[in-house]
Amino acid sequence: MKLRTINNLDLRGKYVLLRDDFNVQIVDGKITDGFRIEQSMPTIEKLRSAGARVVICAHLGRPKGTRNMEFSMRPVAEFLNVPLIDDCLRRDFMADMNNGDVVLLENVRFYPGEESNDPAFAQRLAAGFDIFVNDAFAVSHRAHASTVGVAMILPSYAGELLASEIENLSAVMENPVRPLLSIVAGSKVSTKIGVLKALAKLSDTLIIGGALGTTFNYALGENVGNSLYEADQKNTALEILQYAKQNNCQVLLPLDKGVAKEFTRDAVRTNKDLKDIMPDDVIIDAGIETTQRNVAAINSAKTVIWNGTVGMAEWMPTWSYGSFALARAIAARTRAGEITSVIGGGDTVAALEACGVKDDITYVSTGGGAFLEFIEGRILPGISILENK
Ligand code: 3PG
Repeated sequence: MKLRTINNLDLRGKYVLLRDDFNVQIVDGKITDGFRIEQSMPTIEKLRSAGARVVICAHLGRPKGTRNMEFSMRPVAEFLNVPLIDDCLRRDFMADMNNGDVVLLENVRFYPGEESNDPAFAQRLAAGFDIFVNDAFAVSHRAHASTVGVAMILPSYAGELLASEIENLSAVMENPVRPLLSIVAGSKVSTKIGVLKALAKLSDTLIIGGALGTTFNYALGENVGNSLYEADQKNTALEILQYAKQNNCQVLLPLDKGVAKEFTRDAVRTNKDLKDIMPDDVIIDAGIETTQRNVAAINSAKTVIWNGTVGMAEWMPTWSYGSFALARAIAARTRAGEITSVIGGGDTVAALEACGVKDDITYVSTGGGAFLEFIEGRILPGISILENK
């Protein structure tokens, strides 16, 4: 994929509409995880040092086309230390901007025309700009006005983060050093069918864990107690197992589980083999044998792709055991130069951070849904529009 990039552009004095993904977690008005913002900084710096007048457009949460200040970009503007323009369609401030200035527009999802990609809204959003730069990989799977609409109107380019996401994710998909181990976990099979199939085709080994793994255990007739799983995905799970077999991919499912009598952070943990799980047991984490088996799989891989935690990793330390063991094993082997590791998804990246190993990973994607869709091989509309045809 050859994208139009901002290299070699004459940006001095140009008004640049920059789309970033600043959809970050905010608690009590404070950003608790600035990863996406930090990853967006190189492009912002590059544009400002080239003398562009940079106006950043972003979204936060899902305000559904209404001006709900719960979703205001203000905490992000404070984090970035740039002025916040209180309406994304205001343009009166632009005449006062100097070369190298940066401002942030208020949440673009305050307008319904954003998500419906309304052409008239896109025209208003593009008004006054010389070029459009998309650096928001994490929202590029959405055909919205600020990802696709404006790119149809203005000369449009990929930012540094977006280009680096494509380069790193393409490299692992197109030419992985084998054996390739993929780990897919999380809560719902229904949202991960595409990625499970794509990885079953591509990988030598596929670990399926978390509530996703529980659905597969259920499909095979194992005990799953009173746990989270999708009974209606039974046939899909069986089809995926069949598909993996046809593609010579070994699938590793949970063998045992960390269970409790209630689904709470403070619940008392017991480790049980699947056959011993009782109807009132709730699965909250991977078991000890499963975790040892998973670490052994990491130890014999040369490339690892990981999305989704295998338990309630945020309920530390009792229920983070299985996920943290994965994070530490992948990090140790990457640090030793023995594997290439590519990891994406908000919860998974949070687990890496909680273990203090994020910087050891070869490539950590800022994408959640976009990461999954890219791995699945889908065309991301916000990206294909930036391609040099
Ligand atoms: C994300 O956080 O994955 C992106 O910002 C997309 O958000 P959305 O799922 O609300 O479109």
